[in-house]
Amino acid sequence: MQATIVSDNVKHYPVLLKEIISVITPQHGGTFIDCTFGQGGYTQEILKFKKTKVIGIDRDSDSEIIGKKIQNKFSERFLFKNIKFSKLSNLKLKNENIRGIVFDLGYSFTQIKNPEKGLSFYSSGDLNMKMGINDFSANDVINKLEQKHLEKILKFFGDENDARLISRNIIKERLAKKIKTQDLVKIIEKSKKRKNYKIHCATKTFQALRIFVNKEISELIFGLIHAAKILKKDGVLAVVTFHSLEDKIVKYFFKNLSEHKSISRYEPKIEQKEINFVMPLKKPITPSKKELSENFPSRSAKLRYLIKKKDIYEIETDILDKFSDLLDIENLGSKL
Ligand SMILES: C[S@@+](CC[C@H](N)C(=O)[O-])C[C@H]1O[C@@H](n2cnc3c(N)ncnc32)[C@H](O)[C@@H]1O
Repeated sequence: MQATIVSDNVKHYPVLLKEIISVITPQHGGTFIDCTFGQGGYTQEILKFKKTKVIGIDRDSDSEIIGKKIQNKFSERFLFKNIKFSKLSNLKLKNENIRGIVFDLGYSFTQIKNPEKGLSFYSSGDLNMKMGINDFSANDVINKLEQKHLEKILKFFGDENDARLISRNIIKERLAKKIKTQDLVKIIEKSKKRKNYKIHCATKTFQALRIFVNKEISELIFGLIHAAKILKKDGVLAVVTFHSLEDKIVKYFFKNLSEHKSISRYEPKIEQKEINFVMPLKKPITPSKKELSENFPSRSAKLRYLIKKKDIYEIETDILDKFSDLLDIENLGSKL
């Protein structure tokens, strides 16, 4: 589910890099916020344009090592912050001319390959899945939450058809012993009614757990809201998603800010809000044939972007109501 993936020859491959640069146009200068700094792939490309400044954000403190290196080289033009992007508004940005904000959602290959993070179903040992700055781990979720709550997480965050059976079997198994990563994989294998040979049987459950542990729904929603507020006029908000739930949220938010609500002619007229954003493309940009041939896992990446047309801070959106069901499920984490 990571949007930036490295090919097997371990070359770092920032997904849709050329396309990101062409929509945020750093050649004109200004300040850019890279909300998912990772290995610094996007940041380093933006810094190639002399009149730019970049603020790189990542919740994973491992990114700070690369962040520091870039900071040494570009001390006047780059700053790294180890924070979550939902806290974007805490940055002191009053005098910054924010021309572009980019999100490349998900995990980097480096994180997936790090056995301590336990993000992959090939990991051994305790469940974890914490990306950085977390309140609880996947170990807490699997070994402590009630069955009905586990079922909801797997169903709504992983679109897992066998959520009930898997969650029941988790509860049964944990009466006897603590469930570790490979125990969970075995429980899933045993519970799946139908075999799907296209994806690993644990893919959906692991995706659901990663979303829940890292509160990815509220992170994305609050990240988008703050980004839309702090952008300056003609600034661009660009987001690369990697799974349908993320894309659904981004698409809704972008339409919500750039279009009037459609009302049937039989309904009473309502006063429509002012539209201050433009979404130039209805369809997402996807990787080119060349990129797919060099980095096949990028196949699910989708880039959408939005342009701000007025220097206003307050925005009108009902995104929190629209996704309140998902936010309620995420809040089940407060029980841990
Ligand atoms: C797919 S990688 C980005 C890679 C980057 N574009 C590059 O070229 O190197 C995603 C990164 O976003 C970070 N991340 C994910 N969610 C975050 C959040 N809510 N706040 C801050 N960083 C986050 C992850 O830790 C990871 O390093």
